[in-house]
Amino acid sequence: MKKLMEDHRKLFGSFEVIDFVDESEIQALRAQTDVDAPLDVHWTWEYGSEVEELRRLYEKGKVNQWNAELDLDWEMPVSKDEWVLNPQASLMAQGCALMGKDEATQKAAAFDELAYTLSQLLHGEQAALQICGQLTNVCDKMDEKWYASSQVADEARHVEAISKFLARKMGTIYPVGATLKVLLDELLAAETVKKKTLGMQTLFEGTAVGIMELMRGESRNDFFTDMIRRIEQDESRHAAFGVLMMRRVVKEAEPEEKDELEDWAFSIMEALNANQQLDMLRLLGPKYGIDAENVTRMFTSLPNHAELNSLAFMHTVIPNLKRLGLITDRTEQGWRDVGLMVDGRGENAPMEMEFQLS
Ligand SMILES: [Fe+2]
Ligand SMILES: [Fe+2]
Repeated sequence: MKKLMEDHRKLFGSFEVIDFVDESEIQALRAQTDVDAPLDVHWTWEYGSEVEELRRLYEKGKVNQWNAELDLDWEMPVSKDEWVLNPQASLMAQGCALMGKDEATQKAAAFDELAYTLSQLLHGEQAALQICGQLTNVCDKMDEKWYASSQVADEARHVEAISKFLARKMGTIYPVGATLKVLLDELLAAETVKKKTLGMQTLFEGTAVGIMELMRGESRNDFFTDMIRRIEQDESRHAAFGVLMMRRVVKEAEPEEKDELEDWAFSIMEALNANQQLDMLRLLGPKYGIDAENVTRMFTSLPNHAELNSLAFMHTVIPNLKRLGLITDRTEQGWRDVGLMVDGRGENAPMEMEFQLS
């Protein structure tokens, strides 16, 4: 199976990371703002509902709309001097603590890390907005078009909420990380409706739900908790669409096509995970005297690395892929080997659609 970003691979102990160190290459990736995205535009003359479960999801989306400007209380404080998230949730704060830095420095580093993470989510939201716009064209059923268009509005709201949060409350929007940019381009340029749905809706939406759930659980700030809770609720609807669509796709796919989707899903997630947090650590670490490579080497060699590393993935994306039949005996060991999948967590979690549609 071909690995993505082969040229940027290196071994840290037994863990293979993706590491971008050449600043001009990173700048060039960011400067590339045009992507060739193949689009098959489909008319349909069937305006009645053909896929009842999608129509229900669309109805649900309408009822749960919210206004990022009016429904969030922007007067509520968010301060650099307070922990926005619990310190244990911050790699940078932990790194600073290990090096004996004082609490003010730990807080500043954690605040910076949160701004970085939210900035990456923001760029991901923009990709979601654009891919979902593509879906309104490439889907051939009216239920799918209606649902996708409602998600476009959701994604616009997420871009709005997170960009305003970063500008108003944190003061910084960090540029997209190199690894993430390569992967988002890969999703934006996916050739078929199947891959567009699998990539954005199942893989990235599922991962986003897991990350947001972790962040919300660690939040100490009421504004942040409220904003993430609202976004997360939308995202689980989006992940549900991924499952409902892919369930039909997988059922109809020839074995060869199904294998291809399964391999593609792994290559995307493996690459996302292979960066660990190196792009962030390389950018922010020097400011706090943190050595990016040391921190990543230390983290990836922990005996419980897989346990910690898989938290966000075991929440939604892995259980969904497993139930869709896109993680099988053929590939499962690969997911385990890179610390994306562990036993005993997530396997009994409800599929997002059940959670959302019940
Ligand atoms: Fe979103
Ligand atoms: Fe989304």
